[in-house]
Amino acid sequence: MIEPWLEGRRALVCGASQGLGLACAVALARRGAAVVLAARSGPALADAVARLPPPSAGAHAAVVADLSGPDAADALAQAALRDGPVHVLINNNGGPAPGAALAADPAAYAAAFAAHLLSAQALVQRLAPGMRRERFGRIVNITSTSLKAPIPGLGVSNAVRGAVAQWAKTLAAELAPDGVTVNNVLPGFIATARLRALIGSRAAGGETVDQVEREMLASIPAGRFGDPAEIGSAVAFLCSPLAGYITGVNLPVDGGRTPGL
Ligand SMILES: NC(=O)c1ccc[n+]([C@@H]2O[C@H](COP(=O)([O-])OP(=O)(O)OC[C@H]3O[C@@H](n4cnc5c(N)ncnc54)[C@H](OP(=O)(O)O)[C@@H]3O)[C@@H](O)[C@H]2O)c1
Repeated sequence: MIEPWLEGRRALVCGASQGLGLACAVALARRGAAVVLAARSGPALADAVARLPPPSAGAHAAVVADLSGPDAADALAQAALRDGPVHVLINNNGGPAPGAALAADPAAYAAAFAAHLLSAQALVQRLAPGMRRERFGRIVNITSTSLKAPIPGLGVSNAVRGAVAQWAKTLAAELAPDGVTVNNVLPGFIATARLRALIGSRAAGGETVDQVEREMLASIPAGRFGDPAEIGSAVAFLCSPLAGYITGVNLPVDGGRTPGL
């Protein structure tokens, strides 16, 4: 049985038209939340909304928003707040392009920082006051295990994940007195379009896709790629009343792959 942890709660999930964001939206909706899904593609969002189980109250909605920087935050927050307070914010965005840290143009670092940190900061600034009034808030950032152990070939991503982790830890202490938690979920290798693209780009270096997959699987103690629903489950738990005393943590969901604490 799935516990209705989030009955009567409202959530905004960013990057929710596919992959991990969509899995988070499904997991929150299954626990009763009404979910506002945001991404750039309107048709994909409409399909995603149609796949959600109905909420305990209210309705799910889709908002087209480009979160490549903070500019869209105002309109997105206003749209999400139209039908009531937003108790849950999932910050999630497309991953930066792969490549060596040294080879990346400084503009690529700036773009990743804008998409992953500045847009999240702008949304938190608009939604945290309502969470504080409600004395209940959950902010979860989808980041990467690279903030614990940098992943070779993902230079820009490694850098920005570290920045997001420090930002979140700082916010967690600022918001804890008002019942608002801030946590990071660190996906390992999870079977989404992003993972397929990363495998494809490594294979372009000369190996076959099969070889790249075998090497990646060999690095995962659980011996398999993760299912996006497994990220959704972790996020739903962190957003539940059960997790009210958990804040400022980095939770790897990686089949044991991260080689350190
Ligand atoms: N999958 C993994 O194994 C893995 C592992 C570690 C970390 N991560 C990280 O987790 C995040 C999600 O990964 P994923 O695998 O779910 O990726 P994905 O399948 O590529 O999905 C990305 C989602 O973000 C949306 N998006 C992209 N750019 C956006 C923008 N500028 N504004 C608003 N929405 C945007 C996309 O929709 P639109 O294109 O319609 O906007 C889509 O819904 C990424 O940051 C990724 O690097 C993934």
